[in-house]
Amino acid sequence: MKSLFATSVSFLRPIWSQGQGCYLISEEGKRYFDLESGTWCAIFGHGDQGLALALKKQAEDLAHCGSLYLSRTAIQATETLLSIAPPQFSSVVWLASGSEAMDWAMQVARLATGKRKFLVLDCGFLGSTDLPFRGSLHRKEDPEFTFLDTSKYLYNGDLNLEIDKETKKHINSQFKENDFAALVIEAIPVSGGINILPRSFLKALEEACRKNGALLILDEVTCGMCRTGMWFGFQWFDLEPDIAVLGKALGSGYPVSALLMKEEVAREVEGRIGRVQSHQNDPLGAAAARYVINRLKSEGFPKMVQEKGEFLLKGLENLESAFPFLSHARGLGLLAALQVLDDEGKPSKERTEYFQSRALEFSILLGAKPALGLLRFLPPYIISFEEIECALKALKEIAETVP
Ligand SMILES: Cc1ncc(COP(=O)(O)O)c(C=O)c1O
Repeated sequence: MKSLFATSVSFLRPIWSQGQGCYLISEEGKRYFDLESGTWCAIFGHGDQGLALALKKQAEDLAHCGSLYLSRTAIQATETLLSIAPPQFSSVVWLASGSEAMDWAMQVARLATGKRKFLVLDCGFLGSTDLPFRGSLHRKEDPEFTFLDTSKYLYNGDLNLEIDKETKKHINSQFKENDFAALVIEAIPVSGGINILPRSFLKALEEACRKNGALLILDEVTCGMCRTGMWFGFQWFDLEPDIAVLGKALGSGYPVSALLMKEEVAREVEGRIGRVQSHQNDPLGAAAARYVINRLKSEGFPKMVQEKGEFLLKGLENLESAFPFLSHARGLGLLAALQVLDDEGKPSKERTEYFQSRALEFSILLGAKPALGLLRFLPPYIISFEEIECALKALKEIAETVP
């Protein structure tokens, strides 16, 4: 049979025909409440008229002009992006996906430092192309990657926790044994379990990078663009990366990503990259990003996401207090998680799957990673307080029937 190829075992059902705000609508006309923003992308929900108009206008004017040329839209989008970025960044490359931009970032680090090895977190996910994938969880032994153990801080929700001397020593020993091109991390590892690591842990890593001439690359594909209530997730940790990568939310569903570099890094690699891609700096992607950033700015989303996130987290904490098999409610902005445990206090795959499948009966698409006993929440930023309340009420009803 000729069909779309399913990377996983099979596609989930239903088949969607339309989207409206926080809802996806099936071919049968049934509405489902999407608590995942698609693949954590559609921050303004589905069927957003503003995005549709921005894309329509740009597609009519100029969708693509070839990556060797500039377009006025790409120039304007760059100014817009740099206006909300920390001041150390001066150069931008626009690409289409998070993986592509992460791959670029890691190649840039190799070129700029002349070194090949990377330090990454054991709970990180950096993308699905060559270098990022090799530096992601579920990895194989790889002489070019060192995976830093974060298990001590698993499910930590406390940014202000001070790390001990032993951890600092362990970090420094990694740098003594290896000559890294870069440390490559998500501010909050999302696929690896929404692990909010202590600020002091990431600051100690940053310090070790500076001392040892390694670059700091922040993968902001999922944490960036206000997901955590700050423009960049790393701003919660007071980090000053050399390179940051944005994706997902940057196009609110339209595929666009961006690589931001410090001037020193950009200068070091200028003219030496030797990579040109068909959709690099495409006006269409730039128009989507410009629309997204301008709207986030003009409608005050950073503050709004923080407020909605606090409301969601309070609700998850209430659930945690009410049910012994729920634990470790944690979150920053609209990036939150809850653990589901068995009677021995270990992650429960079965109960997590129960939550996910019962949520479907409430017409809710609930994010989960059953192997980690993890329920995760990355709703569109346009979600209302009433809609958050509705989702929490459904979770409570499900929890009351957990076997
Ligand atoms: C932190 C992080 N980095 C990179 C990627 C890869 O982005 P994309 O799927 O757009 O290639 C993902 C995707 O989930 C991600 O979560």
